[in-house]
Amino acid sequence: MKLTLKVWRQKNSSDKGSFETYQLDNVDVHASFLEMFDVLNETLINEGKDPVAFDHDCREGICGTCSMVINGRAHGPLQNTTTCQLHMRHFKDGDTIVVEPWRAKAFPVIKDLVVDRSAFDRIIESGEYISVNTGQAPEANSILVPKDKSELAFDAAACIGCGACVAACKNSSAMLFVGAKVSHLALLPQGHPEQFTRVLSMVEQMDKEGFGGCTWTQACEAECPKGISISNIARLNREYLAASLALQKK
Ligand code: SF4
Ligand code: FES
Repeated sequence: MKLTLKVWRQKNSSDKGSFETYQLDNVDVHASFLEMFDVLNETLINEGKDPVAFDHDCREGICGTCSMVINGRAHGPLQNTTTCQLHMRHFKDGDTIVVEPWRAKAFPVIKDLVVDRSAFDRIIESGEYISVNTGQAPEANSILVPKDKSELAFDAAACIGCGACVAACKNSSAMLFVGAKVSHLALLPQGHPEQFTRVLSMVEQMDKEGFGGCTWTQACEAECPKGISISNIARLNREYLAASLALQKK
């Protein structure tokens, strides 16, 4: 395949940045999108130029590290697919592909396509934990969990923390991510001891980091590579209300 790539290049967070155009003449249709970038970078290095910085780790759709906006869509054109799981057979010979970083105030660009997503880490640190006894693992059936609840909790736990929901949202809202994390533990009995403090702390940290609010456009759900449902945002709102009322009563 022959491709024209328009790639965002930015030296650091204070640099203005701009698009650079690259021609690739021999792209393997079976290559993944990131492998195509590996080939581009080998070419740039051989020419003595600065390779394109981009984030990746597992390349198996698990870690949530890869993060590219491809032709205006977070993680590219395929539903339920991370950038690392996207393959070149989904593009046509002669295509022009535009690649940009996640764009959000809370995700400043570090270099080229790499953004700082440590805001997500700080939200997790603020409340995504449970009280457990140390020592041996408890007997698996000592706390029973209804099947419907465990399935909803499992669906929420599928969030890989990639940030595509923020990149897709016109408000740069992180509520799908926070909703998934809060739901995961709120649905399970093990998460109940910190149920109220968790949601209040995580929402407070989310606001502090500069993420916007949800205006229900559903773009986050459409672009999430793990199919996280916006019903988790509704649950986040209910949990937040319940926690606020519970604290008022005290
Ligand atoms: S909710 Fe989806 S898009 Fe958002 S961080 Fe989790 S996996 Fe990524
Ligand atoms: S590199 Fe791990 S999910 Fe894409």
